[in-house]
Amino acid sequence: FTPKQLAGRKVVLTAGPTFEAIDPVRGITNSSSGKMGYALARACIRAGAEVILVSGPVALPVPPGARRVPVASALQMRDAVLAALPGTDVFIGVAAVADYRPAESAEHKIKKSAVDRSLALTPNPDILAEVAALPDAPFCVGFAAESRDLDTYAEGKRRNKKLPLLVGNLVGDGLGGDDNTIILYDDAGRHPLPRAPKAELAQHIVTHLAALLDARAAS
Ligand code: C5P
Repeated sequence: FTPKQLAGRKVVLTAGPTFEAIDPVRGITNSSSGKMGYALARACIRAGAEVILVSGPVALPVPPGARRVPVASALQMRDAVLAALPGTDVFIGVAAVADYRPAESAEHKIKKSAVDRSLALTPNPDILAEVAALPDAPFCVGFAAESRDLDTYAEGKRRNKKLPLLVGNLVGDGLGGDDNTIILYDDAGRHPLPRAPKAELAQHIVTHLAALLDARAAS
């Protein structure tokens, strides 16, 4: 028996990497399996939520009951998120969004030559920070994958992006695998969870965020 902790709530999630085209056959991407975001989408559905999953390119089936909006680039992901946002109670940014995109994307395949080449990059918008800054912002949850100093960077990102909840993990630990070790950061401090399968961690995250959401509604 799973309590319906998110019954009547609408949840929008981003998951997977983004793909930033250089030309029709090449691009820049991040390494992200999408497993954590998809596990979280499943956990939200199990908790009774309506779920929209804005997903970059991944090799995972649509979680039963979710509406998946497939996207490639960060700009497409941002448009899909903003379009899905009306009526949303919770926004969870799990996607590994590319920080930069090529300043120009070539219409035709770039031909190789023997000379050095460089690629001009331009910063992508921070989708999560943008959503969290909206006057009518939903309850926003972020993720931070760090290779060191997790506490400092995770709490810094939570404050900068003004998030009530952020999930931190050390990379090398969970990337691409089925298990992960995570720490939850909120206004009350840090809450480390024991190493567990991503499906189980997703359940813990949903329970934690539902409690914060209920506390916010009651205050
Ligand atoms: O700053 P950093 O990229 O590590 O922040 C990670 C969090 O912000 C994740 O929740 C990620 O999905 C979100 N993010 C975003 N748009 C970006 C960069 C990160 O939504 N352009």
